[in-house]
Amino acid sequence: MDSIVVQGGGPLNGQIPIAGAKNACLTLMPATLLSEEPLTLTNAPRLSDIKTMTELLQSLGAEITSMQEGQVQAMSCHGTINTRAEYDIVRKMRASNLVLGPLLAREGVAEVSLPGGCAIGARPMDIHTDGLTLMGADIELRDGYLHAKAAGGRLKGAVIDFPFASVGATENIMMAATLAKGTTVINNAAREPEIVDLADCLRKMGAQIEGDGTSSITIQGVDSLNGATHPVVTDRIELGTYMLAPAICGGEVELLGGKLSLVGAFCEKLDAAGIDVTETDKGLMVKRRGDEIKAVDVTTEPFPGFPTDLQAQMMALLCTANGTSVLEEKIFENRFMHAPELIRMGAEIDVSGGTATVTGVKKLKGAPVMATDLRASVSLILAGLAAEGETKVSRVYHLDRGYEHVVRKLEGVGAKIERVKD
Ligand code: EPZ
Repeated sequence: MDSIVVQGGGPLNGQIPIAGAKNACLTLMPATLLSEEPLTLTNAPRLSDIKTMTELLQSLGAEITSMQEGQVQAMSCHGTINTRAEYDIVRKMRASNLVLGPLLAREGVAEVSLPGGCAIGARPMDIHTDGLTLMGADIELRDGYLHAKAAGGRLKGAVIDFPFASVGATENIMMAATLAKGTTVINNAAREPEIVDLADCLRKMGAQIEGDGTSSITIQGVDSLNGATHPVVTDRIELGTYMLAPAICGGEVELLGGKLSLVGAFCEKLDAAGIDVTETDKGLMVKRRGDEIKAVDVTTEPFPGFPTDLQAQMMALLCTANGTSVLEEKIFENRFMHAPELIRMGAEIDVSGGTATVTGVKKLKGAPVMATDLRASVSLILAGLAAEGETKVSRVYHLDRGYEHVVRKLEGVGAKIERVKD
């Protein structure tokens, strides 16, 4: 197993290119199941999660060719396919559940292993299955698998009111509805940029979708979809993560491909903390306004609110702020596991339920720490960049799921960082 070793210090200066979005690519890839024609994704990120999705789709019968070092995924899925998503693959990555809607839409049947819980929360699929049931699917949980069957072999349009703006449920239902008989309306839908990216791609494939990016999405079902080529949208979470590097260490860094519209609520908090973000012709430039970071309160919310996937990274910054910040995690019930690791580095954090109170300290101290999940792992690297001495982050396989070339990208702006074999 590998670890990443960081020598604290700063400032950081230069440019960091931002890749295509993991969470967009993971929902775009299953869309290949909706057509007999090829779907090609460009600007795809090179991540272990993308490899897992490739493995899953290939197990269902898709042909996938990865080109240009993985930045292009050419996929096609024609003829009869396998409709069973095996536990052995699904347990590696929850987003595997995004094949449920497309399989049901294409074949009228699907058997998808239930992913089970994960480090950050229980993460049930009731909103997905309740929505598909309204579309005429009969779904039964048996032997750990969701066994789903569309009445009459084809899903039908329905009006679906989500109790919560779930990202995954919006994606699954939207894909399922593209081939359903009639019109589907999703109310209280998720509004994340990854949803809009999926809708753009599906429209290129011939789907009729309106309202993506708002809380109400309307999908007019069609009989078949064609192929397309689609560039994956920029990864706003990778973007936000690297915006925090000059914020926590000082210096000036340009994030190539960054867009303000992807990180609006996040930038408001950076501004309040004393960080300047300006648009350039290549992306976003980030630097501190003064020497100190100001304390700010943060509450995670569905888009366009503050993203839960940047909460851990923001906590690392606020550990060095002047004053006390209150972070409220409203999306997942167990997403503060980075706090005890940051406390090992000298941070002052008090966690009570979904609230963490962070009292800034003058300087964090380097220490051996352990990654517990994807975003927690990168928050420890950010903290290590600002700490005195050496920080060794172990279990970085978590990191590989969502960040490509971390060492190369941070070294490129002057960080002292290396990957070591344990
Ligand atoms: C997506 O997960 C992202 N993953 C997550 O990113 C992200 O944290 C999350 O959206 C929220 O923004 C991918 O896109 C692959 P949800 P998803 O359905 O779709 C509850 C990362 O770090 N819920 O919006 O699983 C659920 O338990 C990952 O890249 C139900 O109760 O998120 C959670 O508390 C982590 N029933 C909340 O809603 C359901 O049927 C949000 O879940 C579905 C969800």
